[in-house]
Amino acid sequence: MSEIENKAENGSTESAGECTAGDTKDDKGLGLGIIFFIVAFVVCFLSGTLLFPKLLYSKKEQPFNFDHQLHVSEAGDCDACHSLREDGSFSGIPKLETCLDCHSEDVLGETEDEAIFVEEYVAKEKEIPWLVYSRQPDCVFFSHAAHTQAGGMDCVSCHGHIGDSTSLRPYEENRITGYSRDIWGKNIFGIKKHSWDRMKMDDCAECHKKETGHKGYCFQCHK
Ligand code: HEC
Ligand code: HEC
Ligand code: HEC
Ligand code: HEC
Ligand code: HEC
Repeated sequence: MSEIENKAENGSTESAGECTAGDTKDDKGLGLGIIFFIVAFVVCFLSGTLLFPKLLYSKKEQPFNFDHQLHVSEAGDCDACHSLREDGSFSGIPKLETCLDCHSEDVLGETEDEAIFVEEYVAKEKEIPWLVYSRQPDCVFFSHAAHTQAGGMDCVSCHGHIGDSTSLRPYEENRITGYSRDIWGKNIFGIKKHSWDRMKMDDCAECHKKETGHKGYCFQCHK
């Protein structure tokens, strides 16, 4: 048995031996090929992970900085600015009117942000065009009452720690869809460490499945 095997092995090395003359050349070619492949792979990988997000998303600054930590301690709680109305609809981001409870034209603040706020918006009675990080496409129906009231959920589980931040990050807009980056999330591979890292359709459905036992029907979220 082993003899036959040996023969077979010898045979194969012998026949392979016929082209040993060209082998060293081929090895070089193969080596170069591998190096070329690795270099190309690294270049593609880096441009895909570092350059692609830069090209895909454009950054936009908020009108001026808003310090949540300071304002929560001044106003008491989130409810002072974000609350459910009598009819169950969500007030969203407060209107200028709410700010005027404490800010007025004649008190010019010390910081640049407060100066922009007072000069551009308070004095001109203009609403502040905040960019909403969590904004969903128009076709999506979302209700805060269903989640914060009926579901008893915390703001942090979907929004992260915006409520206790002191500064605002730039808003990133997807150049193709025009949607906020917060929908697909920061991670280009789609890896999710926190519940608030992403808010794609699957993320809504995943939690619904966990909490209610089924993903839900299309018309629950699309009206
Ligand atoms: C004095 C008013 C005020 C209070 C109090 C306040 N907020 Fe806000 N909130 C704002 C304003 C103004 C914005 C818009 C600017 C921004 O994005 O921070 C905002 C934006 C947000 C957003 C961003 C939504 C998005 O996707 O862009 C979240 C989330 C939020 N607030 C959560 C909270 C939480 C949680 C608390 C309580 C811990 C809180 N806020 C207290 C005024 C307030
Ligand atoms: C409960 C009272 C209160 C409300 C309501 C309130 N603020 Fe303020 N705000 C303050 C106080 C107090 C300060 C700190 C003192 C100062 O600089 O005037 C401040 C500071 C600021 C600053 C400067 C902070 C910095 O770090 O540069 C900005 C900008 C600002 N507020 C914007 C807003 C906007 C926009 C709203 C409405 C969404 C608002 N505030 C609502 C009390 C309030
Ligand atoms: C189940 C996830 C979830 C929870 C919990 C949640 N939010 Fe939201 N929030 C969203 C989504 C999704 C949007 C975007 C809605 C849209 O674009 O129609 C949003 C939008 C907002 C906005 C911007 C609204 C606007 O239309 O301008 C604010 C402010 C906000 N949320 C604050 C809060 C606060 C404060 C809490 C806690 C009391 C909270 N959210 C709890 C998912 C959530
Ligand atoms: C972390 C968990 C969680 C996430 C994330 C979440 N939901 Fe929900 N959602 C719930 C729970 C729990 C309920 C049921 C609340 C109740 O009525 O008891 C609910 C209810 C709803 C309802 C009401 C359904 C009905 O028939 O009454 C809608 C609409 C909805 N969610 C849309 C969304 C959308 C859109 C998103 C994503 C942008 C989302 N939800 C993300 C947990 C979640
Ligand atoms: C739990 C809530 C939920 C349910 C149920 C749901 N969707 Fe969605 N859908 C979303 C959200 C949130 C988005 C926007 C984010 C995204 O693109 O992932 C979306 C986006 C979409 C889009 C892309 C629209 C655009 O402008 O980008 C299509 C198409 C769609 N859904 C179809 C469906 C169909 C068909 C069903 C039923 C099989 C369904 N959805 C069920 C939440 C839901």
